[in-house]
Amino acid sequence: MTHDFAITTKSADETQRFGKEFAKKLSGGNVVSLYGDLGSGKTQIVKGICLGLGVTQTVNSPTFIIVNEYSSGQFPEIFHFDLYRMKTQDEILNMGFLEYIDSGSVVLIEWPEHVEDILPEGTIKIHISHTVEDENTRWIKLENPEK
Ligand SMILES: Nc1ncnc2c1ncn2[C@@H]1O[C@H](COP(=O)(O)OP(=O)(O)OP(=O)(O)O)[C@@H](O)[C@H]1O
Ligand SMILES: [Mg+2]
Repeated sequence: MTHDFAITTKSADETQRFGKEFAKKLSGGNVVSLYGDLGSGKTQIVKGICLGLGVTQTVNSPTFIIVNEYSSGQFPEIFHFDLYRMKTQDEILNMGFLEYIDSGSVVLIEWPEHVEDILPEGTIKIHISHTVEDENTRWIKLENPEK
């Protein structure tokens, strides 16, 4: 699995390509948390990861239904959370969050701040942020606990 890593991208497509490449390193049970402001590009990374995992369904931020489920050739299912609208950790636990985490599937989480202290130890963290350079440039940082 890749070590810590940083990259600058200049378009949404380039960010998706990063996700696609990153996906090659994933295996069942991996949890990936994605940090970044509104519109920074978390969902673009998820789209790329899903492409890399062979998902053929449309990938969008599951803002209103909290979790999307995709199928891929490689894993039983991929769970994509967007916790932006969740208010408390209890609310998230009540929707069976820990069961999803323990399912052995790949779990991708946007807005993970609410679940920070219940994320498993090996969670791979990706940060994406706007830059002052121009409106289409993003800085992406990967924090991988498995050295
Ligand atoms: N280098 C880039 N990488 C990613 N997205 C980019 C880039 N340049 C421009 N964009 C645009 O920024 C937007 C990123 O939107 P996206 O939905 O991925 O953000 P998000 O972090 O998931 O936001 P939210 O918190 O609302 O879910 C898209 O409209 C995309 O086209
Ligand atoms: Mg999103």
